[in-house]
Amino acid sequence: MKKAFKNIIVTGGCGFIGSNFVHFLVNHHPEVEHITVLDKLTYAGNPANIAGLPKDKVELVVGDICDKDLVDKLVSKADAVVHYAAESHNDNSLIDPTPFIKTNIEGTFTLIQACRKYDVRYHHISTDEVYGDLPLREDLPGHGEGPGEKFTPDSPYRPSSPYSSSKASSDLLVRAWVRSFGLRATISNCSNNYGPYQHIEKFIPRQITNILSGTRPKLYGSGKNVRDWIHTNDHSRAVWDILTKGKIGETYLIGADGEKNNKEVLEMILELMGQPKDAYDHVKDRPGHDLRYAIDATKIKTELGWQPEFTDFKKGLQHTIDWYTQHEDWWKDEKAAVEAKYAKHGQ
Ligand code: NAD
Ligand code: DAU
Repeated sequence: MKKAFKNIIVTGGCGFIGSNFVHFLVNHHPEVEHITVLDKLTYAGNPANIAGLPKDKVELVVGDICDKDLVDKLVSKADAVVHYAAESHNDNSLIDPTPFIKTNIEGTFTLIQACRKYDVRYHHISTDEVYGDLPLREDLPGHGEGPGEKFTPDSPYRPSSPYSSSKASSDLLVRAWVRSFGLRATISNCSNNYGPYQHIEKFIPRQITNILSGTRPKLYGSGKNVRDWIHTNDHSRAVWDILTKGKIGETYLIGADGEKNNKEVLEMILELMGQPKDAYDHVKDRPGHDLRYAIDATKIKTELGWQPEFTDFKKGLQHTIDWYTQHEDWWKDEKAAVEAKYAKHGQ
């Protein structure tokens, strides 16, 4: 019988997806008795994201995943580590890759060394971007449905940016630790998440908060680039299924068949917010901009029985717009600085 996960460390639990996972655990898994959020509180970490959750259950430890002594101390008392903490934004990695190498690679190394030492179950959160990009559907013989036309767990690693290559490096460390040291680990590679608590530097919240601030949304290049959107709650459920039912050493891809190009998403936001469809600016494209991501989630669906619940993207987007509209105090103070940084780089 598997050991219950009563004491879980969630790294990066004050960021977007990590904090949504902490809420998910508190709301749906009372058998988890204690959640330690280990978070450095970088610009992307906000303690407000987990404020309001019961203090006797959710403990915030402000610290760095590269701090070996701290990590060792926390992991020695845990049943599982779910590792979300990362530098997560591609555009930032193109300006300065340094913290990406440190946090994403060295931080993962520090965590898996401690999990190895104490034989603690480890789940590694990664991204579909490790697989590089795919051609647009219209350029493929099977129109995106043929063999090899979506990412699968067997797709070759060919990351494009400093961010995605640092994530790819961390995945490879985990795979090696499983094989060489028997680390009890699983890996998941998920597509683009949307939902509440996402930092306003990212595409969807940036455009929503631009409109709410009276600024025109900004589309990179032609807007033909496709992302495969999944609601962050569906991601959380998938991670729990992998943690509790996944096979050690396996990689699971998480996606909800949510492919949309950026122009379509932006037009949908504009429509839902009562703006003309063309009320946005084209800005400089991202260097090395990945063209299309698409996940084949057959493995997690068939082996673990996971299915996405948020299948109506427009409805999920409306909820997300409502959340940013109702939580202006959460983002307002940062907005000018985020836009000034983008403007400096022509975006
Ligand atoms: P985020 O940038 O919103 O949050 C990252 C969190 O990690 C922040 O709270 C930050 O303070 C913390 N952090 C950063 N460096 C740290 C360090 N050295 N020590 C401790 N804490 C540190 O990121 P996100 O979008 O929530 O992404 C979370 C994870 O999910 C990342 O590993 C990312 O690669 C992965 N992922 C993200 C997406 C997406 O669409 N956002 C999709 C797939 C996978
Ligand atoms: O695919 C998973 C990845 O999704 C995660 O690993 C990353 O952590 C996460 O940030 C996200 O990466 P992207 O680069 O796809 O997300 P971003 O929100 O930065 O951009 C989404 C798309 O929108 C991308 O094609 C670039 C474009 N874009 C982005 C911004 C910020 C714009 O057109 N305008 C913008 O202002």
